[in-house]
Amino acid sequence: MEINSVKLNNFRNYAAGEINFLPGVNFIVGQNAQGKTNLLESIYLVSVGKSPKNSKDKQIIKFGEERARVEIVFNTLAGRKNISIILDKQNKKFIKINNLNILKLTELVGNLSVVYFSPDELKLVKEVPEDRRNFLDISISQFDKVYLYNLIKYNKILKQRNTILKGNFSYNSKVEQLSLFTPQLISTAADIILTRLKFVEKLTPIAKDIHTQITQTETLDISYSYTLPNTSETSNLKQLVVDDLTKQFASILDKEIELGYTCLGPHRDDLIFKINNLDCRQFCSQGQQRTVALVLKLSLMEVIKKEIKEYPILLLDDVLSELDDSRQNRLLNFCTNYQTLITCTALPQTDINYNKISISNGKIV
Ligand SMILES: Nc1ncnc2c1ncn2[C@@H]1O[C@H](COP(=O)(O)OP(=O)(O)OP(=O)(O)O)[C@@H](O)[C@H]1O
Ligand SMILES: [Mg+2]
Repeated sequence: MEINSVKLNNFRNYAAGEINFLPGVNFIVGQNAQGKTNLLESIYLVSVGKSPKNSKDKQIIKFGEERARVEIVFNTLAGRKNISIILDKQNKKFIKINNLNILKLTELVGNLSVVYFSPDELKLVKEVPEDRRNFLDISISQFDKVYLYNLIKYNKILKQRNTILKGNFSYNSKVEQLSLFTPQLISTAADIILTRLKFVEKLTPIAKDIHTQITQTETLDISYSYTLPNTSETSNLKQLVVDDLTKQFASILDKEIELGYTCLGPHRDDLIFKINNLDCRQFCSQGQQRTVALVLKLSLMEVIKKEIKEYPILLLDDVLSELDDSRQNRLLNFCTNYQTLITCTALPQTDINYNKISISNGKIV
């Protein structure tokens, strides 16, 4: 996949302008606070439907203006596509794909496929499990719509189940109501867990390999917190997980009623990263954690490529300043395999071919 152009109107500090990109590596160069991150944010918005910084839509509109617009023209294996998004002050979003209005965000996801890395992504390794579940959910949703629909369904049932657990009902009434919702929750949970396990199984060998290439000395391991029950039966994995979760839910029923929320399921699961057998979150240096986060994104490029038969676009915000020269060069060599947009305050020393885009005060110079 390749972006040809990004047109911005009243988007953050951009009044109006069009930026053209070339295949391969594109450096977006500029001093601090000129609009480099804002440009990547506009691309992420068109890919996922929201800001990577979790900003509210109206915060994206240029100060003093009524609406922001971004339009991206890009090439895919299926031909050239055009997506535009208008955000207005009332937090309304108007999205068009190839000039046709779409009404649901689920229709947007999966069109322009991107993998995004910023210094903030360190949270993927360092912070709470929710950040890692978000990584799984956003990554898988880019190529698996069924997974996205299952997630939406799961969250709906989860909310209903929690309302019962928290509600002002007798113990017996709660048990009776839960007996309707728990099997539905478990069935969707099993689908989500199995898809995540399959994804982790694909991601892990690629990540281990890239990690060794970049660090040269360390060994990375990745696992998902749910382990399949031990069995020789592999034909009906879903039933296996359903049976297992049914047992687990039965054993914690009283605890859940006492606590008033659902204690088990994919909304509580986690990914675990280890370097040389040590848990990354607790024992690894900042540099090691940053490298793992970056390796995960590079591996994700390969997993998505396998799924959709073409590479997504790699967006790297501020990544070079944090790496030593040899790691920078090894990273840049990976980046030549696909279209990569990298922001930096100064061009790095490199032998690779690249396109340079200079940004100053929300304008191309
Ligand atoms: N809604 C908005 N309207 C106008 N300007 C905005 C809006 N939101 C943010 N800005 C401004 O956009 C400017 C550029 O921000 P951006 O994060 O893109 O800078 P950058 O080039 O990535 O800088 P750095 O090198 O420090 O990361 C900031 O000075 C910020 O104040
Ligand atoms: Mg920035």
